[in-house]
Amino acid sequence: MKTLLQIRSSIFSDGGQSSRLAERFVAAWRDANPDGKVMVRDLAREPVPHLDAARFGAFLAKPGERTPEQQAVIAHSDELIAVLKRAAVVVLGLPMYNFGLPSTLKSYFDHIARAGETFRYTEKGPVGLITGKEVYVFTARGGLYAGTPNDSQTPYIRTFLGFLGMTQIQFVHAEGLAISEAAKQESIAKAHAHIDRLAPAQLEAA
Ligand SMILES: Cc1cc2nc3c(=O)[nH]c(=O)nc-3n(C[C@H](O)[C@H](O)[C@H](O)COP(=O)(O)O)c2cc1C
Repeated sequence: MKTLLQIRSSIFSDGGQSSRLAERFVAAWRDANPDGKVMVRDLAREPVPHLDAARFGAFLAKPGERTPEQQAVIAHSDELIAVLKRAAVVVLGLPMYNFGLPSTLKSYFDHIARAGETFRYTEKGPVGLITGKEVYVFTARGGLYAGTPNDSQTPYIRTFLGFLGMTQIQFVHAEGLAISEAAKQESIAKAHAHIDRLAPAQLEAA
């Protein structure tokens, strides 16, 4: 059974523009994969704590020497990683907040980047262990950034997910949402058309 992991990072949960774009893609995927399973992680409703020294200490502690608190941190991180590993397709709703990614998404990323679990260092450099995934990223932004040096998100997402082994990534941008109502509607319509072009590829992959 093919599995899709849908990660929402809008502070507005499923009401965010990024979430709604992602939802359009997921609906098409469900139609194309009636036996498929969709797992949703909503980071507004179910946030991952910030990574602090104590939590990172749990990542470093040897399995046999973990305190109960450290074991709980590892169990949480292990669960996030297990869900990610199970997914063949990863869908990410990605708003731009204050020129970067939502802090909830950064906390999630900080808990799935685990040496020996999702990447490892070799003599030839780091190797990602989360391979073979198709990743679709749906951005929503008030201004215009795609294709300019001010797009801090696209290269960061490519670098971070690529570090973990996820290199097959497609972006759909909805930009200029704060410029005017007309610009917003036009941008959303373009993003919908882009999503609808991606959807047939999903049908073939099913
Ligand atoms: C707290 C906050 C900060 C924002 N910062 C930016 C920004 O730096 N650049 C930008 O283009 N838009 C910014 N916006 C506009 C959002 O990118 C836009 O509202 C988008 O729809 C957010 O995605 P969402 O609806 O999925 O939450 C910001 C919005 C909020 C609520």
